[in-house]
Amino acid sequence: MPEVLTNTWARQVMAEHRELRADVARLREFLNAPRPAASRAGAHSWAAELSSRLSALHDKLFRHFRLEEEGGMVEEVSTAHPRAAGEITRIVADHPRMLQETRELVGLTLDYSAARTPIDVPLRRRVTALLDWLEEHERDETDLIQRVEYRDTAAAD
Ligand SMILES: [Fe+2]
Repeated sequence: MPEVLTNTWARQVMAEHRELRADVARLREFLNAPRPAASRAGAHSWAAELSSRLSALHDKLFRHFRLEEEGGMVEEVSTAHPRAAGEITRIVADHPRMLQETRELVGLTLDYSAARTPIDVPLRRRVTALLDWLEEHERDETDLIQRVEYRDTAAAD
């Protein structure tokens, strides 16, 4: 059934969600490839590459979340669709927490590049958990936007 998005912010948010899904898939691919043990040959390059990818992800998420929070999504969903206000507030509360986790992971990855193994959860598992969280978050947002903002244009065809 053909559908269109009626709002500029919604079109941009959805386009960025598609881009983020592709970024997450590329990061998963990188994480699933063999990783040299800390302090072994290649470990520094691997960790430097991961920290740079995470840092790029942090920058993208920062801008994406700002678009969602200030570009009309939060305001419009909560005013035009009051029943979804609680849901959008809960979703948006994840933004600073995800950014914080991404920054922590950049730090842990740089530790790894200096041949120090993070002592808590293994690095790859924690990055994977962040990617799972991010994907679930964006999926929930996409579902919500589709529920409240898509307009069925089948009748106009
Ligand atoms: Fe989003």
